[in-house]
Amino acid sequence: MSTVRVPATAAATLHSAVVNWYATHARDLPWRAPHASAWSVLVSEIMLQQTPVVRVEPAWRAWMQRWPTPADLAAASPAEVLRAWDRLGYPRRALRLREAAAAITEHHDGEVPADEEALLALPGIGSYTAAAVAAFAFRRRSVVLDTNVRRVLGRLLSGTALPPPSPRRTEAEMAAEVLPADPEASARWNVAVMELGALVCTARSPRCGQCPVADQCQWRTSGYPADEHAARRRTQAWHGTDRQARGRVLAALRTQDELRPEEVRELWPDATQLERVLTGLRTDGLVSAIADLDGVVTGYRLPQG
Ligand code: ADE
Repeated sequence: MSTVRVPATAAATLHSAVVNWYATHARDLPWRAPHASAWSVLVSEIMLQQTPVVRVEPAWRAWMQRWPTPADLAAASPAEVLRAWDRLGYPRRALRLREAAAAITEHHDGEVPADEEALLALPGIGSYTAAAVAAFAFRRRSVVLDTNVRRVLGRLLSGTALPPPSPRRTEAEMAAEVLPADPEASARWNVAVMELGALVCTARSPRCGQCPVADQCQWRTSGYPADEHAARRRTQAWHGTDRQARGRVLAALRTQDELRPEEVRELWPDATQLERVLTGLRTDGLVSAIADLDGVVTGYRLPQG
């Protein structure tokens, strides 16, 4: 994908079309409310990374009620946090969020920092989350590139069906090129492009008839060329995978304080795979083993402290 130059007048046309579309079509999501705290925005961005909005929304509400500030979450045990994360998936995110809360409490007087660099320095916060929190919580000018934004800009400006499997520098350059100069306008543009990708310019069945910038779309005007990276895209299998086994062990431990080794063995038919999965869960700090004085494991539970 080569860097694309976009004339200022064309960019301004895109901005007003997409932002106006957002004003009437955006979903009313609680973390987008004007009074939403920076902490609540940070929590939403972590939850939304690998989980759909419909599953995140109730979990986010419960989470914010229970731990309304970073200091509240920092005081919780890993076991409590993992139980509240419930079935959002990729539970390491929950532990990292707790670590981020502790760092915010300790190093930033309990206030989420506004600066992208300070955000990036927090545990578990990558470039996407840092940019998103700076933009959505603090209305700063930052390049927010999630998979929706990458797809929309790729279609609109480069005529590609889907973005490459891993992000390229040229994509960030292109996104920076069309980012409005004014910080508030740039924050609106970021969330509006993201929403357009989620609701209209979807990966599998784009609704070009409802798109406010269909006439300016390179992908559409060049006749919808096929995805050039299709062969390299892997589909994530689930059935029989380590991820499925990990999920099953954690689900059992969320509902019981402790499981004996024979109870854990009943959860999964492949003993070798289960051993590997248990080792991984312990390494990731998601499960603790309880051992007797000889070091023999007598049970498993969620980490307590
Ligand atoms: N609004 C702000 N950030 C979002 C995200 N990551 N997904 C959906 N809606 C959002």
